[in-house]
Amino acid sequence: MATTESAATNPGLNLSIDRMTEHDLVEVCQIEDLSGLSAWGWDAYHHELQSRGDSIMLVARIDSSLHGFELAGFIVARTIADELHVNNVAVRHEFRGRGIGSVLLQTSLDEGRKRKAKIAQLEVRAGNEAAQNLYRRSGFEVVGRRRSYYRAPVEDALLMSLLLAHNVQASQD
Ligand SMILES: CC(C)(COP(=O)(O)OP(=O)(O)OC[C@H]1O[C@@H](n2cnc3c(N)ncnc32)[C@H](O)[C@@H]1OP(=O)(O)O)[C@@H](O)C(=O)NCCC(=O)NCCS
Repeated sequence: MATTESAATNPGLNLSIDRMTEHDLVEVCQIEDLSGLSAWGWDAYHHELQSRGDSIMLVARIDSSLHGFELAGFIVARTIADELHVNNVAVRHEFRGRGIGSVLLQTSLDEGRKRKAKIAQLEVRAGNEAAQNLYRRSGFEVVGRRRSYYRAPVEDALLMSLLLAHNVQASQD
């Protein structure tokens, strides 16, 4: 893979979406840490990279004149039977609000559709409005709530889902 995306992001942002490799993991863990996500850590990402058949692990790189291609964000999802589960998505603070999270999410949803997933599911902290808006913008709806699902701090999770099979049908019309 290696797609260059610009339409969905700010004009002039030279964004490339690539498959995550082992060489990205130090930066992925750094972004995870800075984003306050429940920590997977290097070992869990590395393990997930080994199960390539089911996992969808993508990174977004930005061509910056100062540093060359810089890792701006990542997404980790997994297909389980006919379901796509979005586990983690994060964008470096300085690159947020430019459409990168949306491009990462859309690319993983497209990949899920190619793998014949019928539904996409995820959990999100009840207080994480930015992430909920990102998901709603891509068509996800809240379908449930899991009480005290998260730790440190304890917080409910909203369960959000999106029908993918319907979109596949629509795109064939
Ligand atoms: C959630 C996150 C990945 C969004 O990435 P991003 O690149 O900034 O997102 P985008 O620029 O593509 O924005 C997409 C939509 O998300 C929503 N959004 C993004 N940032 C927002 C904010 N600070 N407040 C409210 N809504 C926000 C908006 O609806 C936006 O659409 P719009 O620009 O048309 O209004 C990013 O904020 C992040 O890394 N957060 C920390 C990690 C995290 O919480 N991950 C989710 C775990 S479930």
